[in-house]
Parts: sequence; structure tokens; C-alpha cells
Amino acid sequence: MATAGSVSPPQLPESPLSPAPQSQLPRSPRQSPQSPPLWLLAELTYACPLQCAYCSNPVDFAAHRAELSTAEWRRVLTEARAMGAVQLGFSGGEPVTRADLGELIAHASGLGFYSNLITSAMGLTEEKVIAFKEAGLNHIQVSFQSSRADLSDRIAGADSFRHKVAMARAVKRHGYPMVLCCVMHRDNFDHIEEIIEFAIEMEADYLELATVQYYGWAMVNRARLLPSRAQLERAEAIAHAYQEKMKGRMRIFYVVPDYHETRPKACMNGWGKIFLTIAPDGTALPCHAARELPGLTFPRVTEHPLAWIWNDSPAFNAFRGEGWMREPCATCPERQQDFGGCRCQAYLLTGDASNADPVCDRSPLHEVVRAAVAEAEAEAALPEGARRPLIPRNPRTSKALAPGGPAPGTAAALAAAATGAAAASADR
Ligand code: FES
Repeated sequence: MATAGSVSPPQLPESPLSPAPQSQLPRSPRQSPQSPPLWLLAELTYACPLQCAYCSNPVDFAAHRAELSTAEWRRVLTEARAMGAVQLGFSGGEPVTRADLGELIAHASGLGFYSNLITSAMGLTEEKVIAFKEAGLNHIQVSFQSSRADLSDRIAGADSFRHKVAMARAVKRHGYPMVLCCVMHRDNFDHIEEIIEFAIEMEADYLELATVQYYGWAMVNRARLLPSRAQLERAEAIAHAYQEKMKGRMRIFYVVPDYHETRPKACMNGWGKIFLTIAPDGTALPCHAARELPGLTFPRVTEHPLAWIWNDSPAFNAFRGEGWMREPCATCPERQQDFGGCRCQAYLLTGDASNADPVCDRSPLHEVVRAAVAEAEAEAALPEGARRPLIPRNPRTSKALAPGGPAPGTAAALAAAATGAAAASADR
């Protein structure tokens, strides 16, 4: 399950591990001049039976079919742990579709990782829940699209809600700490109270209310997904009240939606600081969205040692530190808190990843964010039948929106994708 709403390392409980003493780790091929990649996200596959219109996978995922072998993933995990990685997320696509997941969990456990399975629960069975526990899996995050079966299935593009509920209960029954993650957007923000009550009923240990962040498929569908300020204000008040009420019983993480803010998020806690993601084909990225940035060649683990990728590759050094910053970031007194915001968002909204994240109202391009909010509000004001359709994430729509096809976000691209969406729905 792609981390659709996340732009920080996934919100998980503190690991009981601290970085292992160097003497206990496999030898690193070189001394690291950087802080280690504490958080490793292993995107095992882009395959997924669901079609969420806010998926954070790249829009052209269908063009990236190659997947690392089991032996290659084992080597990546070993190298990452040698560098000091502590937290490991198995993600996707849907990681449960990989037949070798149990083997990879066991390998990670042997290395001493604190491992998390980030799943839609599709393909999960009670037998797998038990087997993964025996293999050493520490934690499971189950995603829901809504607390309402009909809306959840509609957003997921598949009959999935009942199975998710059954698997979430199995996860609890077998003693895992469980994160219940619900991606929040215009169509479910008004149900936030119900969603929190649902998480309580499911005995979640953590609830992540992950407001959609606009990358990948969410960017394609932004005008349909972006909530209104009124929705957010009401939802925030409810979330904060429950955070107080549930103290000591269930932790609630509320991911702030930044389009309505005036200061940018400290995306990924800074580029190349603690977070390393490996895409299914072995491309190493400082965040799941970086693949879209032009002008950077992201190295592959099949071609370079992980330590070189993290410490020395030009792509991982491109936005480290402050040397790349322009005004207003270069002299901003807040630059050490937010690092100029999100590089991917700066690129997607301004066309240049070195610009300030335009969410910041000190950015001369802040107006593009205001315009996106206005566009979404105009869309929401239309009668239901006149609104543009949500474009589901599936191989057909991916091909329709891929480079070489119409430019993403244009009317032609949306029309092509809508045709793909209709065809995919007819196939089901
Ligand atoms: Fe923020 Fe890539 S998603 S830097």
C-alpha cells in the first residue's frame, strides 16, 4: 500500500531500537560522512489490486514493471542495516502480492530491523498474519479509505472493506501493534468523527489521519480531492478533541494539509537526512515522489553500493544543506526548521525544484497554491453530475497519462485517463 498521505517518514511509534552499535553491525564498505538513513522504505512492487485516486506511486508506474529479486532485496536490507538503518517499512503497491515477503521479513528480523508492513490488507490472510509474526514482523499498518463500506469500496475501486475489517481484527488478535491509516480528502473529511470512532472500535493502537498530499495520482485528481478550509477547521477541532480524550489509549496522528497553510512542511525531515526509499526496480530515492524531478539521475541499487548512493551520489546531495537555496529561503530565519519545504512540491507547482515551496507565503509564487485552492472550491461548488471524474490509479490510466501521452493535468490527459478508467471498470 503506497503511503498516499505521507510526506514524512510514516508516522509510527518510536522504535524500541536505537541504531545498533557499529561493532554489532555488518561492516559498512566506507565510513559514512552523513547521518545514517534511519528509515528505509522498501517499495517491493507497484502491483496493487486497488485503484485509489490519491495513490502516491508515480503516475507512469505501468512503465516501471521491473522488480528486484529476492536476493537483491536481501542485499539492500543488509547494506542499509550496516549503514545504521533502524526502521523498515515494507510498502508498495501492495507488498503482500510479493510471494517472498515472509522471507524478506525473516531476513530483516535477523538483521535487527524494527519492521512494519504497510498494507491495504488485500491478499492478506490470517495464515499470513501468523506466519509474518513468526518471521519477526513487528508492526502492521492497515489502510482504510473510509469507515463506510460503500464509500471505502468506491474509492478503492474494489470490493475490499469487509476483508480489511476481518484482517484488521486478525492483526489485533495476533498481538501486533496496529496503525489504522485513513487517507483524508474532500469526500471523507466530514466523516472524521465516524472514522475515529471506527478506529477505536477496531482497537487500533495508532490512527493516522493522513490528509492527501498532492503528488502522483493525487496531483492528477487535486481539484476533486482538496478539502475546503471550512472542512479542515471542523475536522481539526474534532481530531484535537479526540487526541485529548484518547490519551494513553490510542495515539492520533493528524497530518496537516499544507495547501491551506502559510509555512511549508519540513518534508522528509530534510532531503537525504534520515529517509531512504527504494522503488520496486531498485531506484533509490530520498522520497517517494522524487522520481518525477527532472535533471536528477537517481541511482539504482543494482548498479551502486547503497553507501555510495546515500553518501556520494549527486542526486542525494542535490538538496542537502543550504547551498542550493535561493531567496527567500537562503536568508530565511526559519530555513533550519523547514529546509525550504518540499522539493517535489516546488517542482510540481513552480517548475523548478530549487524554488521555495510555494506553500510559503514568503514565496513570490505563493499565488499558485491559492489558485489551486480556488480551483478546488469552484469544482466543489458544481452540481454533482457536472464535476470531473476521479481518475483511478490502474495500468490503463497510467499508460494514458504517461510521458509521450498528453501532458498530465491537461484536459486531453484527463479525457484519455477517463476513457481508461471506464474501460477498466468495464473489465471488472
Ligand atoms: Fe517532499 Fe519529495 S515529497 S521532497
